[in-house]
Amino acid sequence: MKLLAGVDIGGTKCAVSLGRLNASEGIDIVAKTKIPTPPTPEAAVGQLLQALDELLSRQAEGRLAAIGVSCGGPLDSRRGLVLSPPNLPGWDAVDIVTPFKARFGVPAALQNDANACALAEWKWGAGQGCRNMIFLTFGTGMGAGLILNGALYAGTNDMAGEVGHMRLEPGGPVGYGKAGSFEGFCSGGGIAQLARQMTRRALDEGGAPSFCPTAEELPRLTAEIVGHAAEAGDPLAQAIYRASARRLGRALAVLVDVLNPERIVIGSIFGRQRQLMEPEVLRELEREALPLALSVCEVTPAGLGEAIGDYASLSVALNHLNENGELR
Ligand code: BGC
Ligand code: NA
Repeated sequence: MKLLAGVDIGGTKCAVSLGRLNASEGIDIVAKTKIPTPPTPEAAVGQLLQALDELLSRQAEGRLAAIGVSCGGPLDSRRGLVLSPPNLPGWDAVDIVTPFKARFGVPAALQNDANACALAEWKWGAGQGCRNMIFLTFGTGMGAGLILNGALYAGTNDMAGEVGHMRLEPGGPVGYGKAGSFEGFCSGGGIAQLARQMTRRALDEGGAPSFCPTAEELPRLTAEIVGHAAEAGDPLAQAIYRASARRLGRALAVLVDVLNPERIVIGSIFGRQRQLMEPEVLRELEREALPLALSVCEVTPAGLGEAIGDYASLSVALNHLNENGELR
């Protein structure tokens, strides 16, 4: 029985998981552990190696076949280097792959986190059966993973899918250091900025929104607070999410026109605010995208739920074995 290991490196926590691969390349997660992200890359590598060691030692059967690592970009997947991602201060050209290969004696590979999620949704989630699909993640950072012609497309130097950087309006909330960018309008931090702008306007006009009755509360507004208010029916909170959704639709229209995908799979925000955002997204898509391209494209929420990060890193291991013909 083949085991795959997945290592997911995030800004605040890291996860290590073990999956059992079945004959049809389905996966069952059999063990996992989480640690807070250690303060230095050296400490992180040491603790992650140890965490995997412990998971393996408790596994009665099965043989480890490959290790997949996923991490926010920028990175160099060919050389296995993490290149100073904004959410990992102090990580600068860290070789994350060699220590795993050396310790466990199996192939190991590194992939961008959004690309890894795209692989996982394609293999096991909402992207199954597609030849061309896009996965989008909205967290602290925004990213996309592209499956094109039945394979992951990472670009010339792993920069494909850095969609958060696209400017959608001449100005607006800031993301990627750019006012009016996709990340500015649609990431968690971006929605908070949008909320502050729109709520300030409402307060100036004499309103007293339920989730922010005075200007003193403005700095404390988060996407989550506004999300709860939107769910409870607050009209301004709903307008904030709709304003974000319109930009999401506009960005999707560009992706539809450029890549002609059959499916766009959306993680995180769409899970929670889907009912509110979807009509705006679809309206904007209809207004902006080429009808023939849009006619074959479906927009769906991610299928793998909370465990997506584990499936993502495991899918990097599987993809590596498949690409190198090492699965049989
Ligand atoms: C990074 C992407 C990453 C995304 C999600 C962005 O800030 O540039 O590479 O996929 O965050 O973590
Ligand atoms: Na990407």
